[in-house]
Amino acid sequence: MLPDDVDLTTVVGDAHLLNPVMTASGCAAAGRELHQFFDVAELGAVVTKSIMREARSGRPTPRMVETPSGMLNSIGLQGPGIDSFLARDLPWLLQQGARPIVSIAGSSLGEYAELARRVGNTPGIAAVEVNISCPNVENRGLVFACDPVQASRAVNVVRRDTPRGVPVLAKLSPDVTSIVEIATAVVEAGADGVVLINTLLGLHIDLETARPTLAGVTGGLSGPGVRPVAVRAVWQVANALPAVPVIGVGGIRTGRDALEFMFAGATAVQVGTAIFNDPGAPVRVLRELRAELATRGFAKASDAVGYANRPIPSRRQDV
Ligand SMILES: Cc1cc2nc3c(=O)[nH]c(=O)nc-3n(C[C@H](O)[C@H](O)[C@H](O)COP(=O)(O)O)c2cc1C
Repeated sequence: MLPDDVDLTTVVGDAHLLNPVMTASGCAAAGRELHQFFDVAELGAVVTKSIMREARSGRPTPRMVETPSGMLNSIGLQGPGIDSFLARDLPWLLQQGARPIVSIAGSSLGEYAELARRVGNTPGIAAVEVNISCPNVENRGLVFACDPVQASRAVNVVRRDTPRGVPVLAKLSPDVTSIVEIATAVVEAGADGVVLINTLLGLHIDLETARPTLAGVTGGLSGPGVRPVAVRAVWQVANALPAVPVIGVGGIRTGRDALEFMFAGATAVQVGTAIFNDPGAPVRVLRELRAELATRGFAKASDAVGYANRPIPSRRQDV
């Protein structure tokens, strides 16, 4: 089979996408910078940096440090705020013919609800991604994503205030005892799909200063080092909730990495940290994924989803 013959079309809830490759939130702002390197409309979707109600300058510097096979970041949710995002960034993405998935983040249920109403009613968006890895100011600063009740409340208000045809995707944190428990809770609260995984909480100490390297002290670990954790999370959730679309993210650098996620059960994949040293990574991953699927004789990308979960055909016993 030739790479061009592979059908890459992907369905995530009510969103019909050209292919299963997306950017990961926070690694490409709202797509403008990437557009110098490739046409953002070539991707299945562009997931925008999580947007909050107000403009924010993020955490103090230094806020990035390299780790073995990855990096720690404590950018915080730096961004222009929802008014500017809706006036400038989202219209630009839509003009390019891209399919935006808008990531929203709140520090209270009211903020999530307001963001959902404002974003969800913008024509042309492919989905809303709910970043619940944020502290809830109304509940002692506990992170929504780490508790099934808090996680489901955040997703519930977003689903309630987002128009029916717009899928709501819940992005989960791997820093929990049972990712299946959280995924089940957000699906029961109305999520149409889950995105796995956000960064893992980490810490780096500068031996010269004998202090944490990041001004924010802790940071989120990402890059190839987290990939087995992400693939495990996708596998567990895809097995437990086979009808729910799972989007895999964490350390994807190549088409082979993307295929590993699809074999584990991911309907689509996102490319994040790889963009920092190769801004063309998302389209390269797409091209490589197409070739990997063709080499293995998959006529449709969707046929590869969950392939590693199929029963192994019984081997002939030689006597
Ligand atoms: C610098 C940076 C900023 C990020 N910002 C966000 C964000 O705003 N919202 C979000 O949901 N995830 C954010 N993430 C997490 C990524 O979307 C992704 O889930 C994670 O990095 C794992 O994928 P990767 O290894 O391909 O980067 C950020 C990651 C990095 C490295």
